[in-house]
Amino acid sequence: MDPYDVIVIGAGPGGYIAAIRAAQLGFKVACIDAWKNAKGGPAPGGTCTNVGCIPSKALLQSSEHYEHALHHFGEHGITATGVSMDVAKMLGRKDAVVKQNNDGILYLFKKNKVMFFHGRARFAGAPADGRYPIAISEPANTTIAGTHVIIATGSNARALPGVAFDEDRVLSNDGALRIGEVPKRLGVIGAGVIGLEMGSVWRRLGADVTVLEGLPNFLGAVDEQIAKEAWKLFTKQGLKISLGVKVGAVRPGEKEVSVEYTTADGKTETASFDRLIVSIGRVPNTDGLTPETAGVKLDERGFVVVDEDCRTSAPNVWAVGDVVRGPMLAHKAEEEGVAVAERIAGQKPHIDFNCIPWVIYTSPEIAWVGKTEQQLKAEGVAYKAGSFPYLANGRARALGNTDGLVKILADATTDRVLGMHAIGPMASELIAEGVMAMEFGASSEDIARICHAHPTLSEATKEAALAVDRRSLNF
Ligand code: FAD
Ligand code: NAI
Repeated sequence: MDPYDVIVIGAGPGGYIAAIRAAQLGFKVACIDAWKNAKGGPAPGGTCTNVGCIPSKALLQSSEHYEHALHHFGEHGITATGVSMDVAKMLGRKDAVVKQNNDGILYLFKKNKVMFFHGRARFAGAPADGRYPIAISEPANTTIAGTHVIIATGSNARALPGVAFDEDRVLSNDGALRIGEVPKRLGVIGAGVIGLEMGSVWRRLGADVTVLEGLPNFLGAVDEQIAKEAWKLFTKQGLKISLGVKVGAVRPGEKEVSVEYTTADGKTETASFDRLIVSIGRVPNTDGLTPETAGVKLDERGFVVVDEDCRTSAPNVWAVGDVVRGPMLAHKAEEEGVAVAERIAGQKPHIDFNCIPWVIYTSPEIAWVGKTEQQLKAEGVAYKAGSFPYLANGRARALGNTDGLVKILADATTDRVLGMHAIGPMASELIAEGVMAMEFGASSEDIARICHAHPTLSEATKEAALAVDRRSLNF
């Protein structure tokens, strides 16, 4: 059995980054990943690269271009006639972007001397001579052994009870990213991150989109003021969102799928859709991994049990990313992957989970880091809030994209930044400043004193920080 210092199972953002960092630190590293591309070849990058972050953002971009050409070019004095759309080409471009990322990871493995195995891995028993045997099935039929093992097997879409994904009428994120023609009527169950992002893609391309959400509140984890603004903007764009709905029987047919549901006020309704996306959260993926043979414990929901340093119940076995507690985000998985590799090397890295940013890539984008106002109230923290509307930002006006606001929350006594929340153009980029401020323990005054280039959207962040002290200059 070929011995390795570190074996990483899974080459999603958690796994491939852990493998590269471990190799940088001088370890002999193997990484095993089962994902197959359309031709059966390796497709490292996991959910994120193949059916998640990357393809969804490619389609969000394409559909946004289309919507701009149809509805917004006129405002800039540009007449675009005969604008049409080729869904097959759009999907082809998305697939090409995915492949570039798959190839990029294979290149990085070579560059960093990470041994890559394409196949499905499982723990094959207790360690012998201090090394865990890991069996790899098709196409790489072999067994290797490692002193340390990092589990990074990610997650899968959660299905509605009794309603399997057929990826034709009832779609997970996978099917939602490769619908061959724009559905006239698209149903979405779950108004979470995937529901809103994928709902936006197909709405922009012409689908009539109905979103059925179980909870009575819209975007409950988002700062209430931002969620309220998002509701206003998304419903104005044409997304039909029903809250507090109880979904009943779902019946996929040959041409359509019907959904029975009870509305918040108790009425029973049936809706028919051409396609139905079910985006009600994700479940950890440990299928066939047989971690118990190595003494690795799972919790009652199937997550690998880890401590705050990503150590499992078995010595020298670690787990990172979607398969463990915490937010299911690519950058969270990456940070954990790096931290575990460094811990194996005896370093003492630290991840502050309160400083992990969130982004929802709708238009406008929603981004936040740290505490929301409702959390601070619930925790009894005295805070000051300052906000600034994009409407008063020169760059946003020049872009013709003035919806939304940036908000900074700071401790009432120390002025330390406790949270930043934004809805508006490029909120995904602006949020990095809030993350940096929080990581460095900055005050809102620190942000307000930093010179921000003009005209930029980032000036809205500075102005929000000034507003904490009631001294905005441009509003
Ligand atoms: P994964 O990416 O799921 O990778 C796990 C890998 O392990 C897979 O390749 C799998 O095939 C492999 N594997 C599993 N079991 C085995 C085994 N036994 N042997 C070998 N290989 C195995 N997050 C963001 O931060 N930003 C976004 O914009 C974003 N957009 C998303 C959009 C969608 C539609 C979805 C579904 C998710 C999105 N996410 C986003 C979440 C993000 O994709 C995940 O948080 C991230 O991929 C988790 O990384 P991971 O490495 O833990 O697992
Ligand atoms: P989610 O947790 O974001 O949203 C699921 C929604 O479905 C919730 O609002 C929930 O109340 C609702 N729901 C659950 N069961 C329901 C039911 N039976 N009927 C009706 N509604 C129901 O999960 P989602 O959208 O599936 O995404 C999974 C995860 O993937 C996200 O939480 C996020 O971690 C990650 N992701 C991140 C993205 C990003 O960072 N931009 C983009 C897409 C996904």
